[in-house]
Amino acid sequence: MFFRSAALLASLVTASLAADPAVPSLNVPACPKKGTVVYETSVPDRTSFPKTQVDLCYDKSAIHLTFTAYNETNFFYNASAMTNDAIYNFEVMEAFIYHGKQDPQHYLEIEIAPNNVTYNAFVYNPSKVRAAGAEFGHEFITDIYGYGMQTTTKLDHAKKLWTSNFRVPLGIFNIDNGAACGTDWRMNFFRTIVSPATYPNQTLGGWSPPNLASFHITPYFGHVKFI
Ligand SMILES: *[C@@H]1O[C@H](CO)[C@@H](O)[C@H](O)[C@H]1NC(C)=O
Ligand SMILES: *[C@@H]1O[C@H](CO)[C@@H](O)[C@H](O)[C@H]1NC(C)=O
Ligand SMILES: *[C@@H]1O[C@H](CO)[C@@H](O)[C@H](O)[C@H]1NC(C)=O
Ligand SMILES: *[C@@H]1O[C@H](CO)[C@@H](O)[C@H](O)[C@H]1NC(C)=O
Repeated sequence: MFFRSAALLASLVTASLAADPAVPSLNVPACPKKGTVVYETSVPDRTSFPKTQVDLCYDKSAIHLTFTAYNETNFFYNASAMTNDAIYNFEVMEAFIYHGKQDPQHYLEIEIAPNNVTYNAFVYNPSKVRAAGAEFGHEFITDIYGYGMQTTTKLDHAKKLWTSNFRVPLGIFNIDNGAACGTDWRMNFFRTIVSPATYPNQTLGGWSPPNLASFHITPYFGHVKFI
């Protein structure tokens, strides 16, 4: 998510770097085993939120993420929005990914909508909290096929289930073939919920919920290890 609302931007004026928030950890094995995260917590209030799951594994050349939205009733997307358009104003599942241990300033943001349309960008956020007035920029991956970003999406309206798979090549992070075991990562995962009746007001949920309705607060990114 980028420019959600004037209220959000105003709230960011008071954003300050949280002093080492307690964040979750995850071990991710080589495929076909999976590391699994389940979250049911809203951002930023930490109230109950529909169950959302992310399964991750890695192989020689890529990270494989499977996003599962349970209790999905809206499947709401903007049919006119294409790759890298503002799909985050509707319903998306998102991952923020950084190779390394520290709170990142520069990271990959991927998002997927119920119609399989994606958003793919490198984000530059040197304040680490997207502080008001600080530099904050992004660079789209426009050639998603050239970058090896592959997705599939399946909707099951009867079961209220939305599942999307996302392949993210390890080479994007300069990890050579077969060298992912033992690497450290910082990641966070989010889901937005909005219906035609509630648009543009979204309910936000996250694995490691930041203290503000912003996803770009990197001290909250969880610790992930590829084992
Ligand atoms: C999800 O749906 C199940 C069954 O329909 C229901 O029992 C549960 O309360 C729902 N959970 C949320 C968080 O909406
Ligand atoms: C839907 O997406 C199109 C293309 O990005 C955009 O022009 C339009 O404003 C979007 N509609 C809404 C309601 O956000
Ligand atoms: C989703 O997009 C990918 C390209 O990333 C494509 O290969 C796939 O067929 C698309 N459709 C579905 C339903 O997954
Ligand atoms: C969205 O939220 C604002 C502020 O709380 C409220 O005034 C407005 O009525 C809401 N809109 C919808 C469609 O729910």
